Amino acid sequence: ASSLIGRDFLTLKDYEKDEIETLLWTAKDLKCRLGNGEIYEPLKGKVASLIFQKRSTRTRLSSETAFSLLGGKACFLSPDDIHLGVNETIRDSAVVLSRFSDVILARVYGQKVLDDLANFADRPIVSGLSDTYHPLQALADILTLQEHFGYVKGLKCAWVGDGNNIIHSLILGGLPLGMEFRVATPSGYECFDHVIKDAKNLAEKHQATLTFTNNPFEAVSGADVVVTDTWISMGQEDEKEARLKAFADYRVTKKLMSNASKEAVFLHCLPRKQEEVDDEVFYDPARSLVWEEAENRKWTVMSVFLHLLANHRPLINKPKF
Ligand code: CP
Ligand code: NVA
Repeated sequence: ASSLIGRDFLTLKDYEKDEIETLLWTAKDLKCRLGNGEIYEPLKGKVASLIFQKRSTRTRLSSETAFSLLGGKACFLSPDDIHLGVNETIRDSAVVLSRFSDVILARVYGQKVLDDLANFADRPIVSGLSDTYHPLQALADILTLQEHFGYVKGLKCAWVGDGNNIIHSLILGGLPLGMEFRVATPSGYECFDHVIKDAKNLAEKHQATLTFTNNPFEAVSGADVVVTDTWISMGQEDEKEARLKAFADYRVTKKLMSNASKEAVFLHCLPRKQEEVDDEVFYDPARSLVWEEAENRKWTVMSVFLHLLANHRPLINKPKF
C-alpha cells in the first residue's frame, strides 16, 4: 500500500480496500507485539492533541494509551479546556493546535467541525466520532470479526437499530472488504441519504450485497453477525421518549438472534443502554464479542496514529480478509 503519512482519517470512504487492510494488519501486528510486552516507540517526541466535545470512555482511553505506548505524548482537551468554536474560531484553533501537535484527534457533534479542522490544520486530523461517522469504531469491529472468523469477506452482517454514525462507518469500511450488509432501521430513522448513496456505489464496485429494510427479522435471517447500538446517541437526549417508542420492535432479543446463523456473533460499540439488547445476548460468552471489540479500539487507533505519522512494516504475516 502507498504511504498513509500526513493523511486525515475522517471517514473510511476516503480509504481504499488495501489501505483498510493495511491499517487492520498493523493493528494485529501491534496487538501481538506490544500486547506481549514488546517496547516499540516509533512516535517518541511526537505529540497528539485529543479534543473531546462529547463524553468518552473507550475513544479517550484507547487513543491516549495507544499514543503513549508508541512513545508519544497525548494531551486530552475536554470542552472545559479548549476555546474551540466558543471563544476562538475553529480556523484559529486549528492553526494554533498544528503548532503544538503532530496529530489532532477530535470528537465533535457536526461532521463539519472535523472537516473545518482538516481544512485549516496542517497536521493529520483523526475523527474520534461525529454525528455522521465513527471510523475508528468500524476498524475495531472489522478486526474483531476477522479474529473470530479468520476472514471477513462474505460475512453476512445485520444491523438492527438506528441509522447512525456507527453503521455508516461500518458499511463504508466493510463493503470494500466484501462484507455483506442488511440494515434494519425504523421508518424515519434510516441511514443518511448521502451515506446510502456512497455505500451503494461501494457495494457495486466491490460486488458486495447491501440491503435496507424496516424489518429486523428479515435483516437477521441467516446472519453471521448481528450489530446494534444505542437508540439515543449523544446529543439526542431530548428525543428519548419518541425514540424509545419508535425502536420498541428493534430490541436484540434471544428470539431475534435465533433467526440468525447458529454460529452468529453479537457486536455493540458500547456504551450500552438497557433497552436495545437483552442481557442474555449482551452477556452471552459464546456469542457476544463486545469486550474484544472494546479492547480492539486500542490496537486500531494505535495503527492509525502510527501510519499517519511514520512508516511501518508489520512483522506478522498479513491476515486473511
Ligand atoms: N465506542 C465508543 O466510541 O465509546 P466511547 O464513547 O466510550 O468513546
Ligand atoms: N451512536 C453513539 C455511539 C457512541 C460511541 C453516539 O453517537 O452517541
